[in-house]
Amino acid sequence: MELNDIKQIVRNELVASILETQEFLIVGNWKMNKTKDEVKVFLDDIANHDFGNKNTVVIIPPSAYLYLFEDQLRFSQVLYGTQNFYPKENGAFTGEFSIDMMKDFGCKYALAGHSERREIFMECDAFTAKKVRACLKNQIKPILCIGENLDQRQTTDYKQFLIDQLKRSLDRVEPKDLSNVIVAYEPIWAIGTGETATPEQVEEIHMHLRKFLVEQYGSEIGKEIPLLYGGSVNAKNVKELALAESVSGFLIGGASLNAKTLIEISNILNGK
Ligand code: PGA
Repeated sequence: MELNDIKQIVRNELVASILETQEFLIVGNWKMNKTKDEVKVFLDDIANHDFGNKNTVVIIPPSAYLYLFEDQLRFSQVLYGTQNFYPKENGAFTGEFSIDMMKDFGCKYALAGHSERREIFMECDAFTAKKVRACLKNQIKPILCIGENLDQRQTTDYKQFLIDQLKRSLDRVEPKDLSNVIVAYEPIWAIGTGETATPEQVEEIHMHLRKFLVEQYGSEIGKEIPLLYGGSVNAKNVKELALAESVSGFLIGGASLNAKTLIEISNILNGK
């Protein structure tokens, strides 16, 4: 047997053992997609699928369809959450979706600071921090998204930009609540573009974020906060990305719209 073949066998075994043992958080962000009938079919396809006990699968549909999730996923392991909400329990906020409504539908997670909210709907870091704090006050886990655009990547100190964005989006969050925060690094140039960050690029940023979190909040808390990667993740690239040591899971847009693909991704992250 050639040396390269031996190296490949060793690598395959290492990969299999990482995927079989490491816990991953798999989050599907549907954005503004699907009809009621399409949601029902999707939920039928996944409701009885065995996703295993190791990983956590969360779907973030448009809020208008949450009632279907409450109905069809009652006995399933799959959890769900909201893409957007106003950080108040209730009140005179025409057109908004409240914290109380999230809880009413059984949401366990919520996105905060997604780049589409930041860029299209002008949600700033201070508002994102309000959302994060409102979630934590109500036992909902915020998935706090941060990411640089291509211009920032090419022309500025993007690592410092990300730290500043993270710091401001966590403003006045109680350190004791941080264990319920999830941070998703989503470079904007990789979202919906088919261009994924390489595992090395993800690792570089995650290490940088981890260093900041440990320095800021101490190693006990700072080391525990899960770091996700998002941006054109699919069934073809997820394995390679999962091998980056720092990756605790994925925030997946387009590829999570298809039940078969989501199941395929889950199988890969179960080492199957
Ligand atoms: P994508 O979206 O996987 O379609 O790139 C990711 C996201 O925006 O969360």
